[in-house]
Amino acid sequence: MTQDEQKLAVAQAAIQHVPVGSVIGVGTGSTANLFIDELAKIKHKIEGAVASSEATTERLRKHGIEVLDLNSVTDLPVYVDGADEITRHLHMIKGGGGALTREKIVAAVARKFICIADQTKLVDILGKFPLPVEVIPMARSYVAREIALLGGQPALRQGFKTDNGNVILDVHNLHIMNPVELETTLNQLTGVVTNGLFARRGANLLLLGTDHGVETIT
Ligand code: 5RP
Repeated sequence: MTQDEQKLAVAQAAIQHVPVGSVIGVGTGSTANLFIDELAKIKHKIEGAVASSEATTERLRKHGIEVLDLNSVTDLPVYVDGADEITRHLHMIKGGGGALTREKIVAAVARKFICIADQTKLVDILGKFPLPVEVIPMARSYVAREIALLGGQPALRQGFKTDNGNVILDVHNLHIMNPVELETTLNQLTGVVTNGLFARRGANLLLLGTDHGVETIT
């Protein structure tokens, strides 16, 4: 299977995990977009969706799927989203699309995080993909200096503003041996809104597209 075929296969497989009559958390990115297209086919079976970005909101609405405010939702059984990197421990780097903050918020509320990814995303050690860090604009230089002291090489994502009006530093040169610890350390830097490590709250299930079909990893 090609990478695109793998993305479609995992998006279709994720539909089996959508409980009838529920509100579904929906991620951002090309794999999540394919999931949205599949979700549209069963939209009469769900109550609506909570979106992790403006782009996802727009795509859901185009399909006629109701988008609910997270604050009005008390139970979110499932959140489905892609990843930039994921390990077999189900720790992830996310935020390649810049939606990490809202993704992390929706994931925090969800009872189950289902990650859908093609096999290129599976890694032994996180960090080859530059780690996105969302930062309040006035703290950009300070946070970049602090990250450099931690051994990373931060680069400002040029011409990009998040849905929350902030900037992204993409941190290169990381070899993340302890993702939970680094996630916590980065969270503590003043001016950091969110970092793209999803380790403290990782995925509960990975649907991985492979050459031979969809592999389920828990
Ligand atoms: C967006 C994300 C995406 O889940 C991640 O970038 C993967 O995207 P794609 O499915 O296009 O490979 O975290 O912020």
